[in-house]
Amino acid sequence: MKLFIDTANVEEIKNASKLGIISGVTTNPSLLAKTGRKLDEVIEEITSLVDGPISAEVTEADADTMYNQAHDLVNEIKSDKLTIKLPMTDEGIKVCKRLSKEGIKTNVTLIFSLPQAILAMEAGATFISPFMGRMDDYYDDTEAGYRLIEEISQVKEKYSYSSKIIAASIRNVNHVKQAALANADIATIPYKVLLEMYHHPLTKSGLEKFKLDSGK
Ligand code: G3P
Repeated sequence: MKLFIDTANVEEIKNASKLGIISGVTTNPSLLAKTGRKLDEVIEEITSLVDGPISAEVTEADADTMYNQAHDLVNEIKSDKLTIKLPMTDEGIKVCKRLSKEGIKTNVTLIFSLPQAILAMEAGATFISPFMGRMDDYYDDTEAGYRLIEEISQVKEKYSYSSKIIAASIRNVNHVKQAALANADIATIPYKVLLEMYHHPLTKSGLEKFKLDSGK
């Protein structure tokens, strides 16, 4: 499973890219708002830091305006890493179909059901983003997000859809584990959770023991 970082914070992206395990970046309007910066400016900077797909989300609601917003980004950023993140709405799906035909990478976001995922995959989305944490919250069930990804991956496999599944809204290390077990292609992970993945108490105590025994 590939690992993306889910942030618009350039310092976090710089640090994460030094870890050598990041294959892409996802952002969204809420993450961008935390930076107080403009979308095109941030995305342009990120393209110079990470070698992989970088999702930038459009904010317009109707298909034609959304399509134009996507093309403005394509013209400004001028990088084939740019991935246009589109909402899971009828208008978003229309734009997904148009951009896919033009060979522009797309990521349909805010997916909470298998039928929604089918619509996005049929529209040729490069990536689809089911939200694990928000599924768990909504259904008050710590396996709701896991089951959604499992269902989507089964259907993707059965019908040979080319869209890659990005497990999103990851809040903890267990979500990363569930995403992998449910066959997500990618997990997009906040920086804090990414760092938590390195740790286990037995690794810590084991290292301390080795250090002691080696006389260091
Ligand atoms: O990848 C989507 C993510 O940014 C949303 O996460 O924690 O707001 O549900 P969250």
